[in-house]
Amino acid sequence: MNSVKIERLSTGIPDLDKLLLGGIPRGFLVALTGEPGTGKTIACIHFIAQGIKENDKCIYVTTEESEESIIVQASQFNFDFKKAMQENKLIIIDALLGGEKEWTLKSLDLDELVSKVIDAKKKIGYGRGRLVIDSLSAFWLDKPAMSRRFTYFLKKVLSKWDFTTYATSQYAITTSEAFGFGAEHIADGIIRFRRLMREGRINRYLIIEKMRQTEHSLYMQQFEIIDNVGIVIIGQAEERKEDYALPQSVKRKVLEVQKEREKEL
Ligand SMILES: Nc1ncnc2c1ncn2[C@@H]1O[C@H](COP(=O)(O)OP(=O)(O)OP(=O)(O)O)[C@@H](O)[C@H]1O
Ligand SMILES: [Mg+2]
Repeated sequence: MNSVKIERLSTGIPDLDKLLLGGIPRGFLVALTGEPGTGKTIACIHFIAQGIKENDKCIYVTTEESEESIIVQASQFNFDFKKAMQENKLIIIDALLGGEKEWTLKSLDLDELVSKVIDAKKKIGYGRGRLVIDSLSAFWLDKPAMSRRFTYFLKKVLSKWDFTTYATSQYAITTSEAFGFGAEHIADGIIRFRRLMREGRINRYLIIEKMRQTEHSLYMQQFEIIDNVGIVIIGQAEERKEDYALPQSVKRKVLEVQKEREKEL
């Protein structure tokens, strides 16, 4: 049987596209989850920069950082978001701004978010859209039990408006719930970002935990964030003993303590 050819959108990170057999299927809502500082916002910036390059209609909703901060961060990887905004290729909705500015939200309310995003899409024109919501979890912080229904509603509306969407969320170590109460089941894909300490240094990793309708890499990948360049995937993370065994120094210490005890007895 011939399978239906899926249109895919490049993530803007060539090696990540390869892991996804070309990119994110059009119309998908993909959750980017991970602890603070793991690279979610930078991955979003790549996704939007690629959209600008391909003449997609790009909208970036920011709830954690200001519009200015996103523009500065993008410029560090040689992406000119300011120019794209002037050319009506990108609208940044800064939820922190408040007040009467055109592209802001009065509150972190999902209905308001959706209507603002639709306004922005109308302004920017018809055609294939890319949307980033960074972060989506900010919209249900005070009502986490609603997250599943919210995400479902959002997905339905957004695909009608021809968006392929990245939605970030913070990973709650305590509950292992990244996206809040079942919303991850609604998302079409999940890319999980991680960081681990190795010999006193932070190493960064990502893994595609889920992507519907496609094969994809099942291996954790190590990556770096490089000034002027952005996210660069180094390769498959090696399985390391430290992941499941105690470090040598700790083992040595345990043995020493055991010996001391035996002497005392
Ligand atoms: N120009 C740069 N060159 C190299 N590394 C950078 C540069 N800018 C940022 N970084 C690295 O990227 C990290 C921030 O990544 P990012 O903002 O994508 O995290 P995040 O997952 O969105 O975090 P949060 O959940 O807090 O928003 C910084 O802590 C820093 O280590
Ligand atoms: Mg961020």
